Amino acid sequence: MTSSEHIPKKQKIESTEHVTQPKRKQLLINFFENSSSSIHWSGQWKHPQDRSHTYKDLDYWLHLVKLAEKAKANIFIADSLALFDVWGKGDKESNFKGPLHYGIQAPKNEPSAPVAAMAAVSKNVGFTVTVSTISEHPYHLARRLATLDHLTKGRISWNIVSSFLPSTGKQVLNGAPLPEHDSRYTKSEEYLKVIYKLLLSSWRDDAVVLDKERGVFVDTDRVREINHVGEHFNVVGPSLSEPSNQRLPVLVQAGASTKGRQFAAQHAEVVYVSALTAEALGKKIKEFKDLAETYGRGRNDIKYVASATVISGKTEEEALEKYEEIKKHADTVGAQVLFGGWTGIDLSQWEDDQELEHVENNGMKTYIENLTKFNPGKKFTKKSISEKISLGGSISALFVGTGSQIADQIEEYVDKSDVDGFNFTYAVWPQSFEDVVDYVIPELQERGLSQKEWPVEGGTFRENLNGKKGQTFVPKTHPAYNYRWSNDLTKEEFETKLENLNIK
Ligand SMILES: Cc1cc2nc3c(=O)[nH]c(=O)nc-3n(C[C@H](O)[C@H](O)[C@H](O)COP(=O)(O)O)c2cc1C
Repeated sequence: MTSSEHIPKKQKIESTEHVTQPKRKQLLINFFENSSSSIHWSGQWKHPQDRSHTYKDLDYWLHLVKLAEKAKANIFIADSLALFDVWGKGDKESNFKGPLHYGIQAPKNEPSAPVAAMAAVSKNVGFTVTVSTISEHPYHLARRLATLDHLTKGRISWNIVSSFLPSTGKQVLNGAPLPEHDSRYTKSEEYLKVIYKLLLSSWRDDAVVLDKERGVFVDTDRVREINHVGEHFNVVGPSLSEPSNQRLPVLVQAGASTKGRQFAAQHAEVVYVSALTAEALGKKIKEFKDLAETYGRGRNDIKYVASATVISGKTEEEALEKYEEIKKHADTVGAQVLFGGWTGIDLSQWEDDQELEHVENNGMKTYIENLTKFNPGKKFTKKSISEKISLGGSISALFVGTGSQIADQIEEYVDKSDVDGFNFTYAVWPQSFEDVVDYVIPELQERGLSQKEWPVEGGTFRENLNGKKGQTFVPKTHPAYNYRWSNDLTKEEFETKLENLNIK
């Protein structure tokens, strides 16, 4: 057991009396999803109560959003563009049978499709959709994000990823290899700039006039071409979509490498951080805040969110029984399939006791570092890493117990790490999310650690994220701020402003 696992010992832990502390930082809660079954807890699709295989039905998403609304939580939908096809490949380039046989994040649907349906039956839940900067041209994505922002009335956020699976190249890059790790981030910088320009600089806020008397739909003096010429993209513009509620979706990122952190520290409004322990997480968050400051951003401009799973029940016994049942279905081979996708390392030929050493890789660069370089005293073998991943992942927290015990554990974790919130993933769907809603959220709310009401009822993602009515756009300290063409500037004035600020 590592310290990221929080499991009650045999004797019952007396829960401490808690006085309501409304001044405590209210945690940002996300339900972590994927348009496939069993995201992280490999093999749990076999659990008798698991219904994660119904991800392809609209009812799945409608049930999920109702749970999120009850918890006053947001929904985060992860994604990858190819199969986790490294495990068991031997000398071959890939082995697509592994993820399919073991049901490892496969088969998988497109992540943004269920969002509009969920938005129709909810009023406040925010939706983060993962889209890779290598999957489509930024011109298309700008339109897709604007569409989602319109349909959700500003409840959209974009998890910016640049892909890590080696076989993504052969599926979406006409067979070219997945570009080298750091160059993916360099390209993402330009990609994001094109998105900023299209969504923020090509339409003035008030360009759509809908003047029925004069017969003018759009005032064309308030629309301009962006004429972006770059290393990877040439885009004339204007954006095909009109300005949406937030104009720019809330930007989310999970970069952990040097390049990834630099990217996130400049652009992200929410960052997913992970570490083996709460203490290690605290160190990472502090470093992140220091880095963000060097880019002129405030220490609290970015919210930091960690991954976790909850296994709870009415009593401690019930929670522990649930955990024991889950363990029966854990799939350690499936875990190796996951590991292969994340790192590019095929464990199938390894001996059980073979130790994991640091190796450079072109996938999630820091995943191996998290286990090796950052934890010098700790050893991981094929067996131990497979077991760990099969039980919720290696760098994610696990909270087991009654609602009150878990709230204690979470409180301690937050105090040690200064984390702003959690991405709750599921072991058993929807049981794990129901555990959060039924047992954990009420306890957190009681302690002032979780919101009882949305700060801005019916507001945008950004307003609720920052708890400020009217804050639908990024603050001045964000690099996208100056890209926005506001109502007070003519086209010429706006272009002079861009020139003066050296925004090209
Ligand atoms: C909570 C969390 C969610 C992530 N979701 C995705 C995802 O859906 N798709 C993806 O391609 N990468 C995802 N990643 C991977 C990150 O984008 C990133 O590649 C990883 O954190 C390693 O950072 P690095 O690329 O800077 O080394 C996620 C990472 C974390 C911690």
